[in-house]
Amino acid sequence: MKIRKAVFPVAGFGTRMLPATKSIPKEMITLVDKPLIQYAVEEAVEAGIEEIIFITGRFKRAIEDHFDKSIELEMALKESNKDKEYEILTKISEMCDFITVRQKEQKGLGHAIYCARDVLGKDPFVVILPDDIIYYRESVTGQLIKKFEEVESPVLAITEVPLNETNKYGIVDVKEKIDSRTFSLKGMVEKPKNNPPSNFAIIGRYVLTYDVLKSIEDCGTTHGEIQLTDAIRRVTESSGSYGYLYDGVRFDCGNKLGYLDATLHFAMNREDLKNDFCKIIKKYC
Ligand code: UTP
Repeated sequence: MKIRKAVFPVAGFGTRMLPATKSIPKEMITLVDKPLIQYAVEEAVEAGIEEIIFITGRFKRAIEDHFDKSIELEMALKESNKDKEYEILTKISEMCDFITVRQKEQKGLGHAIYCARDVLGKDPFVVILPDDIIYYRESVTGQLIKKFEEVESPVLAITEVPLNETNKYGIVDVKEKIDSRTFSLKGMVEKPKNNPPSNFAIIGRYVLTYDVLKSIEDCGTTHGEIQLTDAIRRVTESSGSYGYLYDGVRFDCGNKLGYLDATLHFAMNREDLKNDFCKIIKKYC
């Protein structure tokens, strides 16, 4: 079955990026010249996603506006013959269909995904956390969808992290190595304080099934939040799931250093900026 829908949970406060996020959604902070969320939307569209469901909260209107048409601005660009800018702008709203669902209370990632249930129906779907920005040759969402089509069970993007950082992530428990990138899973733990089952961390890209959505209903809350990891673990224990070591470089743009790292990486990989930017950086080293 073709995967057409992706859920983007964007209702969080983004406290690690304050004060920038006081009045600007974290997802609208720019990396070089595009908001973070546009990178993630482009990755989804490259993977064949046709419908994106933003799970938003109060103060997130800027995200909807960014992916809407901007008639006045488009007309102004056209009239002043700014053809390149006009083309860039019109493409944004035409990339795919955008739907917004409000998460009225911030009750965790699991709850945010559950808010999309009426739009998702029973089809498998993608989840993208847009503060995880990935530099890739082939869309990482696309890589996961390919794997899902082969295994027909939930597939989670995983990456190796140092053992002393496993307490910051959901960590998978591996059943079997299938090939150099694919692992069947027997469980997972959210931010283990000690004895992590592996050093493979789950990052913000998932292909999930209706079973996971149903399972969220049965999950209790931990510190007032419904954890997505709990729902996936239940499905893993009953019918299995897979971890996939994606091909790409990931940046956690939800924290300041990760964001700065990404800014350097993306700018240095832009042909139009690379040489001049390099000269600027040299001033500081
Ligand atoms: P984070 O843990 O990064 O939280 O959420 P946050 O609020 O965005 O940032 P900090 O930790 O305060 O700096 C992971 C993802 O889940 C979404 C967030 O928007 C982010 O994309 N989320 C989290 C929701 O949509 N709803 C929630 O209730 C919780």
